[in-house]
Amino acid sequence: HLFLNETSRKMLVTNVNLLVQRGKGILAADENPSSLVKRFQSIQVENTAEQRRIYRQLLFTTPDIQQYLSGILMHEETFNQSTDSSIPFPMVLVQNGILAGIKLDRGLESLTINTNETTTLGFDDLERRCEDSFNRGARFAKWRCVFHINEAYNQPTDIAIENNAIILARYASICLVPVIQSEVISDGDHDIYACQCALEKVLSSIFKALSDYDVYLEGCVLKTNMVTCGRRVKKKDKCTDIALATITALTRTCPAALGGIIFLSGGQSEEDATNNLNELNRPVYQEKCPWVLTFSYGRALQTSALKAWSGKRENEVNAQESFLKRAQVNALASKGEYDK
Ligand code: 13P
Repeated sequence: HLFLNETSRKMLVTNVNLLVQRGKGILAADENPSSLVKRFQSIQVENTAEQRRIYRQLLFTTPDIQQYLSGILMHEETFNQSTDSSIPFPMVLVQNGILAGIKLDRGLESLTINTNETTTLGFDDLERRCEDSFNRGARFAKWRCVFHINEAYNQPTDIAIENNAIILARYASICLVPVIQSEVISDGDHDIYACQCALEKVLSSIFKALSDYDVYLEGCVLKTNMVTCGRRVKKKDKCTDIALATITALTRTCPAALGGIIFLSGGQSEEDATNNLNELNRPVYQEKCPWVLTFSYGRALQTSALKAWSGKRENEVNAQESFLKRAQVNALASKGEYDK
């Protein structure tokens, strides 16, 4: 990226600014077909490529959704699918003023023998896939690495942090408008402080690697978890504590030049994800943060829509209304203007 010419740099920054805006966010609809097994089971829908296509079509063609969404992230399968009237999904989004995004990593693989830590696959034909998806309308692409906190608090290990930081940097140096997803997994019963420490270590290492690999930071977007306690902890964190710990970790580690920061919902309820984003965008934090902070939610935008749909064509309008509502309240939260 250090050697990108002026035109490429301008193109990157233009797309980053379109993608990460106050008042808009991103739908993460890039779930692997296998991640949808449980979700489709819960509404008694068979998890076939055709049902997934019908479900994604419903989301992507929701009237007025472009008011609240700047981009939609798709799995490769979805990127290659089309509407009932044979318009490819990336084109549907482009025509509607929404940036099309694609997940380019190929999933997780075990990193070491003795831990549950992972690395991420997908380099083999990455350059070709970047070019191909760009030519077919994609303007941003995601790569996901995950980090696990364990009971003894000696994970994520240095090995896992280093390996994944280098992988994200290498990916970012190949891809144009890279979304670097660094996710400290919320499984477990760790406290919020452990999550903050892990995120700080992970992000410091990632930005060191991005510098080593000469990545053009202004053209990159970070996708991260919020800092919370583990999901097995009974007493939930207050949104004020989540916001303070998250902002502390981000301001300690992320360079001001970074293009923007977007959050995953990581199993938070729809309402919690909206409240937490709203808290993160209070004026007191905006003064401290040089980046736009917005959402790139999967479950927190889709849970009620999926239920409303339940695999039936006659429920599509209701499902679209539920989806539009979540997008709208999160768009408000990205400006700190959500009022329950
Ligand atoms: P959730 O918001 O459901 O965590 O999904 C976001 C995502 O991109 C996970 O990889």
